[in-house]
Amino acid sequence: MARITVTVDGVTYSDDVEPRLLLVHYLRERLGKTGTPIGCDTSNCGACTVQMDGASVKSCSVLAVQADGADITTIQGLAQDGEWHPLQRAFHEQHALQCGYCTPGMIMAAVDLLRTNPHPTEQEIREGLEGNLCRCTGYENIVRAVKSAAETGVTS
Ligand code: FES
Ligand code: FES
Repeated sequence: MARITVTVDGVTYSDDVEPRLLLVHYLRERLGKTGTPIGCDTSNCGACTVQMDGASVKSCSVLAVQADGADITTIQGLAQDGEWHPLQRAFHEQHALQCGYCTPGMIMAAVDLLRTNPHPTEQEIREGLEGNLCRCTGYENIVRAVKSAAETGVTS
């Protein structure tokens, strides 16, 4: 077992974990962060994307021990003071989800995209989200939502 200390959605946790434990399993099973889904077991779908020290990562491709000392934000920590994050609002308003399984990962990847490129073109949005798969929407409304959030000036 290894001791890790990690801040998740503003709360700091110290836990003993097996060195092989994946971050996504730690988040879901130890911390109850079930808003972060698992969509594959091959690091392909992006459903499990979270922010780690300000950059998006697929939490199924990170070991919990690699997150020791990190500051992590999941979809459950994105809203502030009961207010949706502009990307959450934009996904809702632009009907950018159907089953919703990909949505937490899409939004967390889009947060990173807009942080590094606040005014992306449609092509840059599509490229920025290419690590996140959606089986339902055909991506059109997702791109529209990210574009609409960008127009509100989201930077974090
Ligand atoms: S569950 Fe992590 S990429 Fe699919
Ligand atoms: S909304 Fe169903 S997978 Fe994206």
